[in-house]
Amino acid sequence: MSLAETFGPVRVRAPGKINVFLEVGRLQDDGYHELATAFQAVSLFEEVAASHADGFSLAVTGTVALDGVPVDDRNLALRAARLLATETGYRGGVHLDVHKQVPVAGGMGGGSADAAAALVACDALWETGLSSSELHRLAARLGADVPFALMGGTAIGAGRGDRLSPALARGRFDWVLVLSDEGVSTPSVYGELDRHRDEHRVDIGPIRDVPEVDADVLHALRAGDARMLAAAVRNDLQVATLRLRPDLAPVLERGEEWGALAGIVSGSGPTVAFLCGSPEEALELRARLEAAGHAALHAHGPVPGARVVS
Ligand code: C5P
Repeated sequence: MSLAETFGPVRVRAPGKINVFLEVGRLQDDGYHELATAFQAVSLFEEVAASHADGFSLAVTGTVALDGVPVDDRNLALRAARLLATETGYRGGVHLDVHKQVPVAGGMGGGSADAAAALVACDALWETGLSSSELHRLAARLGADVPFALMGGTAIGAGRGDRLSPALARGRFDWVLVLSDEGVSTPSVYGELDRHRDEHRVDIGPIRDVPEVDADVLHALRAGDARMLAAAVRNDLQVATLRLRPDLAPVLERGEEWGALAGIVSGSGPTVAFLCGSPEEALELRARLEAAGHAALHAHGPVPGARVVS
């Protein structure tokens, strides 16, 4: 009898992420931009429970607004399950119960975490026994952020953001995340960045051929020093997200005024991430933002990548 038959569904948790540094290079022929990014996995987790079934199906619940989450074959977790079945020749199906804590279409890699968790859960349920490098290869085919959700912790991403190397990190970083009612689509943010760069070519100057994560960021992560990291955070997508969502600019200002060490749009947004000096400072900032009518969460990083929890 297999593990799944004995104990019921296989449950896997995978984390959301914040890009503490994101330099965007040029648009490549494949439609992707060359990136240099530093990822930190944070303590908002997606949980996927995989059970044996004849076909492929999915149900989604969560602590965040679920509008816009597809429950058909466009869902990245279902696509991950189907891809694993195709690649391994597995002939059965799966039912996936996805429980979401990561804001939907928020720039924190929630959909990518679902896909990473589904890969690990189905691999365990079906006993297909893929190595971590085989899982990583499938993850990269599903989306640029999926490999990092598998790996977790702190990592540097090159290429599309999917060529990962682990980075040394110490200590704990506390974040307050301000959620938006409406998501933004990642391709539209990259498109807006290209338009912005075209319009302001003279002021912006040449874009580096090979983007690179600043040494200051690596140093701050290694030292576990939030103040040092606050001085080094950067997100090239932020200018584009703010063009699409000008309402986020006052949110960024307010959080910094109210005690955050730094505020940054998370990935392509619209979630705004505030780095705080301690858990207490984060709780205080969260309370102030909530009192002002914002939906805010507290999370910390780094945390591990996709793991079986039962
Ligand atoms: O790989 P993923 O599905 O997450 O990417 C969504 C879209 O974001 C891509 O189709 C592309 O338009 C844009 N993107 C990009 N450069 C990257 C990552 C994503 O242009 N490195």
